[in-house]
Parts: sequence; C-alpha cells; structure tokens
Amino acid sequence: MNNSVITAPSILAADFANIAGGLSLIEEARGGWVHMDVMDGHFVPNISFGPKMVRDVRARTDLPLDVHLMVSQPERYTSEFIEAGADYLTVHLESTVHVHRVIQSIRRDGARPGLAIVPSTPVAAAEELLDEIDLLLIMTVNPGFGGQALIPRGIEKVARAVQIRRERGLSFRISVDGGVNHETAPLLREAGVDVLVSGSAFFSAPDPSQYLRDLCGHGGG
Ligand code: DX5
Ligand code: ZN
Repeated sequence: MNNSVITAPSILAADFANIAGGLSLIEEARGGWVHMDVMDGHFVPNISFGPKMVRDVRARTDLPLDVHLMVSQPERYTSEFIEAGADYLTVHLESTVHVHRVIQSIRRDGARPGLAIVPSTPVAAAEELLDEIDLLLIMTVNPGFGGQALIPRGIEKVARAVQIRRERGLSFRISVDGGVNHETAPLLREAGVDVLVSGSAFFSAPDPSQYLRDLCGHGGG
C-alpha cells in the first residue's frame, strides 16, 4: 500500500483551446505533476501535440512536467523535448530497438528517464533497464486515447514491479496510465503504485480537488 501517491493529471483530456485554464485547474486541485501525452499517429493511432506545447506549458507552471512519448523512433525527438522543459521523459520499450541507448541519452541531456510498457508487454521485458530509469510507466489501456477502461491485469503488473524493485534495491517510481478513476485507484494503491495519471476522470470531475484527494486515499468519508 502506498499512502503518498503523486497525482499526474493528463492534459490530453483538457480543452486544447484553453490549456492555460486546464493548468490552473490542475494547480488549484493540487495535482502533483502535469502529464503530457505526445502521440505521432504512427506508434499510436492518434495525434496530439509536440515540443511546442511542452515549451508553452513550461512557461505557465512550475509543476514537474511528466512527458510521455508515444512515438516511433523517440531518439529523434528526446533532446528537443528536454530543451522544451520536460522533467521526466518517458519512452516506450516497444518504440525502438535500442531503448537502452535512448534512456542513457535522456539522462545525459538532463532529464529523468522513464520507460513505458503497453498492456501486452510483461514487466519482465523491462528488467534489464530497471536500474537505468527513474520511472516505470505501466500502461493499463492500449495507448492512443483517453477515456478507456483499465485492463485489470495491469494491477498485477504493478505488484510485480514493486516486488522486483524491492528484491533489487532499486528506487524508480511506478506510474500507472489509463483508466484511473476513484474505483480503480484504491486497487492500484494497494498494489503499491507511486504515480497515478488521470485524464478524463480528472477533467470531468465535478470537484477536481476532491477527486485528487480520493485518488490519494485522502478523500475523507
Ligand atoms: C493514453 C494516454 C493517457 C491518457 C489517460 O494513451 O497515455 O495518459 O491521457 O487518459 P484516461 O485517464 O482518460 O484513461
Ligand atoms: Zn500517458
């Protein structure tokens, strides 16, 4: 059980014509990080935004920017996203052959490297990289769209990652992305998740502050 979960609202679900308003909502609700989903229409079947959005968001908030690259050949873009202001920069294990090299270059360029795995990739496939990363992002939906239902096997993957981290004395954070809401969050916290990404449930919550407190298990009542 993790009692100090970081929340990371995803601006993918914000009004793209009013990103500043979305950021204010995240800050007022005391979100921990701003999650930014970059999609290229190739690695995933959707297109979102590029480094300019990261630069513009960086200029508007001091919250850590948790940038999630869902792009093929991420090595072509990592330095640009770091220059734009990404604090955490996460690439997919499935998106490039030499992901180890990409992770090293992210750290060398001054950001915290993250590794993401899609639902069909087992945690075991990430084992050789776990001592190189600051964040393991376990996707609990197939990436590309917000508003999908969490795939329950992902909860077991969180528990497995916690176990491996303990056995190996590592300290990377474990993040879950996709289908997080007030019903799935308690199960993910129980499994030991550190970071909860939430897009549609956050931006459609009647009371976003209360919603984030609920995600952390501090909802009261
Ligand atoms: C999906 C993205 C997620 C998405 C989550 O490809 O990586 O970050 O914004 O959205 P919800 O919380 O709506 O599942
Ligand atoms: Zn994401």
